[in-house]
Amino acid sequence: MHNMPEWLNDAIFYQIYPQSFYDGNGDGIGDLNGIISKLDYIRQTGFNALWINPCFDSPFKDAGYDVRDYFKVAPRYGTNDDLARLFREAHKRGIRVLLDLVPGHTSDKCRWFKKSALPVRNRYSDRYIWSDNGWSRPDGYNWVTGNADRNGAYMLNFFLGQPALNYGFYNVTQPDWQISYRDKRVKPTFDAMLKVMRFWLDKGADGFRVDMADSLVKNDPDKTGTSYLWRKARKMLNEHYPEAVLVSEWCNAPVAINKAGFHCDFLLNHGNKLTDHAFYRRNQEGASAAYFCKTAHISATAMLSTYLRELEQTRDNGYISVVSGNHDVERLSYFLDESERRLAFVFLLTLPGVPFVYYGDEIGMRYIPQQSKEGGFHRTGSRTPMQWDADRVNLGFSTAPADKLYLDVDRRQDAPCVAQQTASEDTLWSHIRALNQLRHSCPDLQAGSPLRIEECDDGGVLCYRRGEHTYVAINPADKAQTLNRAVTNVLYISGKATARGNVTELAPQTAVIFQN
Ligand code: GLC
Ligand code: CA
Repeated sequence: MHNMPEWLNDAIFYQIYPQSFYDGNGDGIGDLNGIISKLDYIRQTGFNALWINPCFDSPFKDAGYDVRDYFKVAPRYGTNDDLARLFREAHKRGIRVLLDLVPGHTSDKCRWFKKSALPVRNRYSDRYIWSDNGWSRPDGYNWVTGNADRNGAYMLNFFLGQPALNYGFYNVTQPDWQISYRDKRVKPTFDAMLKVMRFWLDKGADGFRVDMADSLVKNDPDKTGTSYLWRKARKMLNEHYPEAVLVSEWCNAPVAINKAGFHCDFLLNHGNKLTDHAFYRRNQEGASAAYFCKTAHISATAMLSTYLRELEQTRDNGYISVVSGNHDVERLSYFLDESERRLAFVFLLTLPGVPFVYYGDEIGMRYIPQQSKEGGFHRTGSRTPMQWDADRVNLGFSTAPADKLYLDVDRRQDAPCVAQQTASEDTLWSHIRALNQLRHSCPDLQAGSPLRIEECDDGGVLCYRRGEHTYVAINPADKAQTLNRAVTNVLYISGKATARGNVTELAPQTAVIFQN
């Protein structure tokens, strides 16, 4: 691939929600020094890249996705120097670090917005999208009226405190207030984002996960305007930071990768996408109808169809990133039991592209429904503190009193924990570690090596080949099924495979990785 950093080919990402990973100073909330002290654990588990959710100064109305100052680490996590030290300590261990870039909106407490809201024209007046009149509520837009001294109403990009930055409109339909995305009045907005990127890249960041990457230019149905901007960012990276990468939250790989120039695009739980079929799908009664549910028996063909097409379309330009979960969805364990998740991880970690594992999924942390925190709403249950050690106070997350924790830890007796899983054989953690190590040692399994479907039965057995020689066969069902080939040179197995001449019987819930 052209202009593609080599390291991505063997990258396995670990997503860290900084509030909830490890509290280094005992004040009840996770922090950057806490992450630094757990880098060895991350390395030991086989991850060599991190994405850290926003850690910038913010009033935290959306857990940090409402940035007040893009150039400053939020004091609750530490200082800019701590973040630079995190980059250095990670790099020493061969770990890359992506920050979270939120380009679509800021907090309404951001200095840019405060200036934009002033009645006198100034250099920030066009930094956000304002109507020309405080009373107007044009159809199809999110507005708040009469909220600022300026005679206008501003557009929201997400929650109430998140005004949309102004990258202009692709189709200008109401010229009295909409500005074309090519107009020089909106150029400073993306220039400001490029400056944010350079600021952190110069301090040692390896790139960015880009929040709502498709949301920049408005009235842009084919994303031509938005892609025009991201191409500029990619050009800047190619020229000045050729090792840095951009991963989009877009969930439309052909557009995000081929048109906008992202290195990777997330494949999220959107309807009819692979992750939805594989992990999250439920039937009308609410029971799991996902491919990896042992009783669902859905067709692997349906699960794979969009994915295979998008993989083919983006083959020469970038990678699709399948995720085990993230801070916006219920955890994987909410949908699949442990035996099912083991197979799901075999799948996730043997697909092409660049996989992402959400912190805690490697030990099977639970989704814990609870009261909303910082704009989390139902997502709060997936954001609880990492569980380090069942024998320590607050499961080793923090030494603060329980009522001072950012969110409470899973207090149930059987809460899975790192110390206990790393000390025993055959745990979910040891399984994931083995898969990570296998991927690192086997180029066939890495990002750019081709995928070919070998068997894809409606009842469920799936067998695919990676590269020339490496095969993955999965029987997710609660019954034995036949694989129409011999299994030789086993690299990894979970379950049982029994040779029957030229075919192999896969015991219920078996996954095997082999070569021939
Ligand atoms: C993305 C983030 C989500 C956030 C939203 C607004 O979807 O993942 O957590 O609330 O954007 O920034
Ligand atoms: Ca702390």
